[in-house]
Amino acid sequence: MILVTGATGHVGRGVVRRLASLGHDVVAMVRDVETARLRLPSGTVMRVADYEDITALKSAFVGIDDLVLISSDGEATTVLRHHANAIEAATSADVRRITFTSIVDIDEASPFYFSPVYRDAERRLALSGVPSTILRCGLYCDFVLDHWLRPSRMSGELALPVEDGRIAPISRDDVATAVAAAATHEKLRLVYTITGNQALSFGEIAAAYGQAIGRQMQYSSCPEAEYLTSASTLPDEPWPHAFATLCASIAEDRYSQVSSDFTDITGQAPESFHDFLLRAA
Ligand SMILES: NC(=O)c1ccc[n+]([C@@H]2O[C@H](COP(=O)([O-])OP(=O)(O)OC[C@H]3O[C@@H](n4cnc5c(N)ncnc54)[C@H](OP(=O)(O)O)[C@@H]3O)[C@@H](O)[C@H]2O)c1
Repeated sequence: MILVTGATGHVGRGVVRRLASLGHDVVAMVRDVETARLRLPSGTVMRVADYEDITALKSAFVGIDDLVLISSDGEATTVLRHHANAIEAATSADVRRITFTSIVDIDEASPFYFSPVYRDAERRLALSGVPSTILRCGLYCDFVLDHWLRPSRMSGELALPVEDGRIAPISRDDVATAVAAAATHEKLRLVYTITGNQALSFGEIAAAYGQAIGRQMQYSSCPEAEYLTSASTLPDEPWPHAFATLCASIAEDRYSQVSSDFTDITGQAPESFHDFLLRAA
């Protein structure tokens, strides 16, 4: 029996659907059953728990063989606690294996706000004694589209403090495919790096978006302070700081790695960023 956390989210529900369609015994961990009914295939088995509630997590994990832990989101210390609670509950419930979605940039020297959070989760997994498969994911294509490309559509100017940094984005759909494959393969490595198949400059990203929406788009690198003041679409803290430090990490080329691991575990090529934009933009 495989339990998927974050099952009402974009990646989690994709994982639930794929596992169910492959005939696996899947349980969706959700916070709100009514919302979950609208987002998950009818008949999906659900257990209710919140990452904040370790007792509820322990109950949810009873009888589960494999846990798919989709990373949580929010303020860093909260996310760190969520992951710690889930890993502790899985350990005490004697889960056989944990598949966890991490990020490519967990380096100690990284400026990225969330790097210490994911480093901590990976360390806890290693110490837990539960065999784990970690998928270090690149930036989601969907994130780049929603947070950076769409807001720049009107002006035609994509201004970010990423200098000449490149990224190899991967769609959330492909991440879900990789997670479902990793959760069900028997022979597994400890760590997979899940990226798109091309490291793109932001000039190429802006041009690709321009092509997809039929208007001229261009990229310019800007100072971090300018990004923070101009980014009126950014929600409250921690997001401005999180996004700015992500840009700093990209400028240091920490997101440019292209890995073939996606193809190795799924047997297919990841969707290219251009194809993603044509589909989603
Ligand atoms: N690599 C990237 O570019 C990138 C970008 C953004 C995020 N991420 C990470 O990838 C993860 C998955 O992305 P996504 O797009 O699927 O996110 P999403 O659509 O926002 O889904 C997040 C899921 O986490 C659940 N959740 C949140 N807080 C919870 C709590 N306290 N207890 C239990 N469940 C909780 C949500 O449940 P509810 O429906 O009940 O709220 C939802 O199911 C994110 O959570 C984040 O860690 C990566």
